[in-house]
Amino acid sequence: MKNIKKFFKSSPKYSIKWSNYFDIYQNLFKRFLNKKIILVEVGIGNGGSLFMWRKFFGKKAQIIGIELNPDAKKLEKYGFKIFIGDQSDPNFWKNFYKKIGKIDILIDDGGHTNLQQITTLMQSIKYLNYGGMIVIEDTHTSFMKDKGFKNPSKFSLINFTILLIETIHRRNPMLKKEINFFSKKIQSLEYYDSITVINISKTKLTKSKNLENNKKLRNLFDDFRYRKEKNISTHKDDNIFLNLIKQKVSKRSYLYRIYENSVIKKYIKLLKE
Ligand SMILES: C[S@@+](CC[C@H](N)C(=O)[O-])C[C@H]1O[C@@H](n2cnc3c(N)ncnc32)[C@H](O)[C@@H]1O
Repeated sequence: MKNIKKFFKSSPKYSIKWSNYFDIYQNLFKRFLNKKIILVEVGIGNGGSLFMWRKFFGKKAQIIGIELNPDAKKLEKYGFKIFIGDQSDPNFWKNFYKKIGKIDILIDDGGHTNLQQITTLMQSIKYLNYGGMIVIEDTHTSFMKDKGFKNPSKFSLINFTILLIETIHRRNPMLKKEINFFSKKIQSLEYYDSITVINISKTKLTKSKNLENNKKLRNLFDDFRYRKEKNISTHKDDNIFLNLIKQKVSKRSYLYRIYENSVIKKYIKLLKE
């Protein structure tokens, strides 16, 4: 199996990546190796990563770079296609995709601001082939206050992807919400330290269905959530009032929700330590 870190080290040009990225990429990109794909990297610096991608994905892969610095155009002599432009400019993307058409993998290692990351994602997703992926690097910037990132904020990339998570859940009919372009196109999202992946589905997705096997056995299924007798829990709290709520009040009631939230708040506190 080809080793991406080896290609990073042996690249003839300067490159900079966080150490945890290599294991993630080794696994994430497996299915694309030696395939005829189009890979686009935004933010290519001196071009070191372009050589790494080419070695890793193989000769059939077309590697395209996007860079703000016009000097990067020189990298075309090594057989890469280079576009000079600003990733936060929607017109740049329109012209880019008019020339290139659909792509398979987009890696965003550009300026890492909220607007740059979100514009790149939103202007590109239409042009991702089914089965492709968008990989956003350095997403720790969603939590960085300094260096001008001014996060965490409700406009951070990570918070934006939470809206995408909502759109994929619309496929479940229990939500009673129309599915939109994103619900149909995104299979899943993956989160790693500093990398967010948007997996494009293999085909257009539709509403999911609730399937039951052995329908004749349905009557034998005793779902404890709907039991009338309350005294099922073996755990007794020292607090009499809490015991009353836990045992006599419906788990879906407003009063029970207050109890639940007070417990969850304690867990949230642990995450913030
Ligand atoms: C960390 S470097 C990229 C390193 C390269 N991907 C590597 O792995 O070696 C980030 C690059 O993004 C470029 N960049 C910053 N803002 C950009 C923007 N708005 N549009 C396009 N490129 C941008 C910078 O000029 C810089 O070369």
